Formats: sequence, C-alpha cells, structure tokens
Amino acid sequence: MNDRSHLTTRAARAGAHVAPGTALPLVPALHQTTVYGYPDLASLHRVNNGEERGQAYYRFGHYNGQVLEQAVADLEGAPDAVTTASGMAAITGTVLALAETGDHVVADRNVYGGTRSLLETDLPRLGIHTTLVDGADLTEVGRALTPRTKLVLVEALTNPTVRVPDLPALSALAGHVGAKLVVDGTFVTPALLRPLDHGADLVWHSVPKYLGGHSAAMGGVVAGPRDLTARIRQSIIHLGATVGPFDAWMALLGLKTLGLRMQAHSQGATAVAEFLAAHPAVTHVNHPSRPDHPQAATAAKLYPDGTGGMLSFALAGGRPAVDQLISRLNQTIPLSPSLADVSTTMIHPATTTHKDLPREELDALGITDGLIRLSVGIEDPADLIAELGAALAP
Ligand SMILES: Cc1ncc(COP(=O)(O)O)c(C=O)c1O
Repeated sequence: MNDRSHLTTRAARAGAHVAPGTALPLVPALHQTTVYGYPDLASLHRVNNGEERGQAYYRFGHYNGQVLEQAVADLEGAPDAVTTASGMAAITGTVLALAETGDHVVADRNVYGGTRSLLETDLPRLGIHTTLVDGADLTEVGRALTPRTKLVLVEALTNPTVRVPDLPALSALAGHVGAKLVVDGTFVTPALLRPLDHGADLVWHSVPKYLGGHSAAMGGVVAGPRDLTARIRQSIIHLGATVGPFDAWMALLGLKTLGLRMQAHSQGATAVAEFLAAHPAVTHVNHPSRPDHPQAATAAKLYPDGTGGMLSFALAGGRPAVDQLISRLNQTIPLSPSLADVSTTMIHPATTTHKDLPREELDALGITDGLIRLSVGIEDPADLIAELGAALAP
C-alpha cells in the first residue's frame, strides 16, 4: 500500500497501534473511547470475567473511571469504589443493589431533595418504603428501625442548616438490625471525615461539588467493601449510568488539590460565620463552629480539621432583605443552584432546593423565608467579609 492507496482503510484504523512510550504521563491520559481492541479471545474473556484488570466497553467501566475509583477508594480508606454518571446515579444504584421489594429504608429527612424524591416517589413503586427521621436524633432513628430495614441514609453534614449526625452512634444502631449505614459525604470529603472510619458501610459523593472542586465535571462515586461495590457496579451497568471518561478525567484533576481546598473552605466559613453572627441584620447563623449549634460537641469530636464551606444565616428583614442581598452581591457572590465551588455562591433554600416541602416542615427544619445558604469558597475571607458587610448595610 502506498501513501494514497487504501486511504479509507488506513483512515478508519488510524492511531490504533501507536503505543505510548515507557514513561507514564504525569496526568493520566484521557481515554475518550467507548470500546477497546483485544489481541485474542482469551484476554477479552479474562477482563470480562474480572480475572484481569482491563476495559472492554464504556458502560461496563473504563480507564478514566477506574483511575478516579482507585483515587477515591484510597482517600476514603475503602477497599473499592464505583464511579457513576452523577451523584443521583450513585445513590439510585446503591439502593437498587441493596434493597428489594418489602425492604425498608430509614433516611434523614434533611437529605438532598433528589435523594428524598427517589425515596418518596420512585422506591414505593418498587415496594421499598422509607421512614424519614431527624438523623441527629438517635432516639427517633432507633424507633424507626425494623427487622426489614436494609439501609440507613444520612448526609455527613446536612443542607442547609449544617446539622451533624453522630455517625458512630448511627452505625451501632443500624448494626443492631443488620442494616447498612450509607453516608452522603459530598459536603465533607475524605479530607475532613472518612465515614468508613466511623462505622459507615458505604460513602457516596456528588462529584461536581468538593471532590471535583471546579463545577466543570459531572459524576458520582460510591466507596466501600468489595462485596457491596460489586453489587452496586452491576446495578450501575444495568442502569447505563457510567461516568463519562472526560468527566472522570476532569474530576481527577480537581481531586489533586482537595486537601488544600478543604482547609481553605473550612477556615473561610468559620471566619464568615463569626462575622455574620455579630451582624445586626442577621438573627441566626447555622455553622458547627458556633457555640449555639445543636451538635457543636459532635462536630468538635468528628471534625477536628473543620467542616468545609457550608453555612446558612437568617436575615431579620425576611424575604425583602434576601432579595436586596442577592441583587447587591450579584457581581461577587452569585445566586447559584449548586454548591462547593472554589468561588463563593449562595442560594435561597425556601424557594429553590426545598420549595416542595410543606410550610410546617420548612418551619421544623428552620428553613425560613429569610434564610440564605452560603457555600464559602477559597477566596480570602477578608474580601468575603467586606463584600457581605457592604451588602448587608442598611
Ligand atoms: C449533598 C448532595 N448529595 C447529592 C446530590 C446529587 O448529586 P448530583 O447532582 O451529582 O446527581 C447533591 C446535588 O446537589 C447534593 O447537594
């Protein structure tokens, strides 16, 4: 074949046999491919049977997903991890893998709205029913457990009032009925707390938050022992909810700065909470560093290095004051329907994340019309305090 002949054939096979050199790239390569080529049937069978690490077809798992899985498993102190297309895919795959018709779930009523909606809307149609509790109230959790309870679901820190469930105590309660404690670690990351060290069976994350850190990559991950992750991996393959290679690759880049970012988020939020607590326009601040926080003692025990960037505060002026604050801050601290970016963002929970809850429940959760949730970024806290101070001025 000369250079011009058989062009269509050579073009179709272009690049397939260019081996990388012996040196590894400092940043793992992006394998943006849905399928891999094999030299013989035996090696394909070994990978498909799980006897050898490798990749066959995107939906069954791929190189960049595996790189991220290994990194998260290592950071969480877990034997294994499964990456998924989103955080919701991670929790959906987990519940479908570990519960069946007739089983029961106990969940903190403060969990993320999407998780609650899965539990309250989709799972009852499969005959899996949930009792909602206050995850920080051990008596209420204990009362809700039954012999059919398979899962206890909580967030390590809740949104937006930053409550702190006592994970070792919850693990002991769940263990009495043989249920698995599954912790959403999105707000804390393994840089601040590794749920498995405190008795949890599984930990899961929404990757576009702190784990990825830059709001640019979508994904989810669940980490834990291999007997559980193997079942979850199967349900993710059936759901077709595999993370994209590019998202996994981007998330890994963000993960590299996790430790430094979480320190900065924690210090920034503590400083901003202190400033807001002393401000006359603010009636209340929810942050575990505040002495009036209902689980301040649990937080001090579980989070010696801080609790990340989440806090919320109530404005004396109610909803009109909220609107004024949002408009005054729109060039610096935007209203944003996500969180945990390196830049500070805010949200009004009563009309966004928690808008579907009835008024009585909003009141019980402390989500008033004047409440703002801040996701404090890694900016210089003095700048954030100056900007908030100017925006809160009469
Ligand atoms: C605490 C928490 N967990 C889980 C999720 C769901 O993750 P995802 O949006 O990646 O599906 C979110 C989304 O905002 C969240 O805030």
